Amino acid sequence: MDQILLEVTVVKEEILNLIKNASDEIALKNVRETHLSKKSKFASLSRYFKDLNKEERAIFGEKINQAAKEIDLAFKNKHDELFFAAYQERLAKEKIDLSLPGINYQVGRLNPLRKVEDEILNIFVSMGYEVYEGPDIESDYYNFERMNIPSDHPAREMQDSFYFNPALLLRTHTSPAQARMMDAKKGEPFKVVCPGKCYRRDDDDATHSHQFMQIEGLVVGHHISLADLKGTLETFLKAIFGEKREIRLRGSYFPFTEPSVEVDISCAHCLGKGCSLCKDSGYIEILGAGMVHPNVLRMSGYDPQEYSGFAFGVGIDRVAMLKYGISDIRDLYQNDLRLFNNFYQER
Ligand code: PHE
Repeated sequence: MDQILLEVTVVKEEILNLIKNASDEIALKNVRETHLSKKSKFASLSRYFKDLNKEERAIFGEKINQAAKEIDLAFKNKHDELFFAAYQERLAKEKIDLSLPGINYQVGRLNPLRKVEDEILNIFVSMGYEVYEGPDIESDYYNFERMNIPSDHPAREMQDSFYFNPALLLRTHTSPAQARMMDAKKGEPFKVVCPGKCYRRDDDDATHSHQFMQIEGLVVGHHISLADLKGTLETFLKAIFGEKREIRLRGSYFPFTEPSVEVDISCAHCLGKGCSLCKDSGYIEILGAGMVHPNVLRMSGYDPQEYSGFAFGVGIDRVAMLKYGISDIRDLYQNDLRLFNNFYQER
């Protein structure tokens, strides 16, 4: 009997030793599988039961149970120990160095042209204007004829453009959208702003580009006067450039408006006193405008005796350049974020 009990202790110690020496979870699992299976040495100890009497069996059973409990506890402790060690190792390996420079994801921005366009449209929409975009590819008829610029008119030369054929071109201004809108409204009064790209065969330099953007404005109704035009443009320009700025109207000429005006805004730098920025004039030219020419109204089915209207065309590029202090129009078309981030430091 003593011999049998000793054997239990020996087998137990052997297993405890293996557990103790298991280097990782896989090794520990192997110990469990080989030394506690039905065919293991430990399991085979039960073969002695049949040779023992009742008392001896109780003692032997107790001994085996005790050994099993010890082995079980050893497994559990070893498992916890290995798990914790692996965890510590992973923590050490996965340590994040917060002082390392991170990956710099570039966040895009609206092109300043689009931002200014949105701002301008919002101002006019808040005054009850509709928004309409005419086509970039325009007919000679809408771009010139309907704007009171017949084929022999010298004003055509100023706006020489890119033609697809004698009747079709890239529009030189957003003004043809005026005629398209009047056609659509069929004699009803309305207020509209028409944004879009324009194209002219022009030198590309710091202030000229073969492609630029405009917003056309047109109001047609009863008793619309130059005072309405002035009040509207003053509201618009102050909203864009700030309350401190003054506007000034100068007589000008456009074939599709009569009278025509050039609208200036007081210089941001000297507020009208005169400085190098505004070439001592105190003012900077910002847009062209005027009362819709009776010929244009008539061609569009509006009786000039009954209806009048005003129109204006503002260069989005020009507004963006003044607003953000951009001196070269070409910068607006480069899409260089480093530049755009600077442009957003408003003056
Ligand atoms: N279409 C003119 C231009 O491109 C601007 C303008 C629009 C002038 C409407 C008067 C009225 O220069």
